[in-house]
Amino acid sequence: MLKLERVAKKYKGAGRYAVHYLDLDIPRGEIFGFLGPNGAGKTTTIKMIVGLLEPDQGKIQVNGFDVTEDPVGAKRSCGFVPDNPELYPRLTGIEYLNLMGDVYQVPGDLRKKRIDYYLNMFELTGAVGDLIQSYSRGMRQKLALTGALLHNPPLFILDEPMVGLDPKSSHLFKEVMREHVREGNTVFFSTHVLEVAEKFCDRVGIIHNGKLIACGTLEELREQSQQEDSSLEKIFLQLTEEGERP
Ligand SMILES: Nc1ncnc2c1ncn2[C@@H]1O[C@H](COP(=O)(O)OP(=O)(O)OP(=O)(O)O)[C@@H](O)[C@H]1O
Ligand SMILES: [Mg+2]
Repeated sequence: MLKLERVAKKYKGAGRYAVHYLDLDIPRGEIFGFLGPNGAGKTTTIKMIVGLLEPDQGKIQVNGFDVTEDPVGAKRSCGFVPDNPELYPRLTGIEYLNLMGDVYQVPGDLRKKRIDYYLNMFELTGAVGDLIQSYSRGMRQKLALTGALLHNPPLFILDEPMVGLDPKSSHLFKEVMREHVREGNTVFFSTHVLEVAEKFCDRVGIIHNGKLIACGTLEELREQSQQEDSSLEKIFLQLTEEGERP
């Protein structure tokens, strides 16, 4: 479903690679958590997957579409929520959702059904006629989630989706992600909340200084780090500290 082969990216003028020969292979129906310290390369990787940044080297395939050779096919297959969604402040919530529905060509009846479903779930129905500039951070986040799910994307990809959500919304959001994979789709998200990654993800990958230093189920990571019964937090700290040594 999502495949990265030797993907590398160096920003202009930077001394080192932000992402350094990254390989990932994520099958359909998986919830994958992408972890790593600040500046590790998570956002850079995600931006390359969704087509906001071009890789310097390597190959990325989304749902069988090569992001460079068939960018539209790849983008159609993705629903993306960035770390700090910049929505259009002068649009109302419903105008924004209809814009997303138009861009992704979601037919009217299906669009209405999905909009109603998510707005009701996220308790946003009452605010949908208000300008986005009046929304709180969490409300914007929920609107962005709704907009990104309207076309029922095979790959739902999110950069730190839990930030700003209250406990109930965060719970609902996890339910939404579970439902999405139950229907045969794939979820890929970055997070710093290791408890969520531990309990919720089928597999996690840990990136450090642009390199994937561990990838697998919690069990597999325990084996890799030779720490039986350890929490993901302990494993994460151990692995990322090891990476730091010269
Ligand atoms: N637009 C940019 N121009 C130059 N360097 C950048 C740019 N964006 C990110 N970087 C650098 O690339 C590296 C990876 O950054 P990235 O934003 O991908 O990290 P991250 O894992 O998402 O971190 P965080 O957890 O803080 O969100 C960092 O060294 C960062 O300084
Ligand atoms: Mg980031």
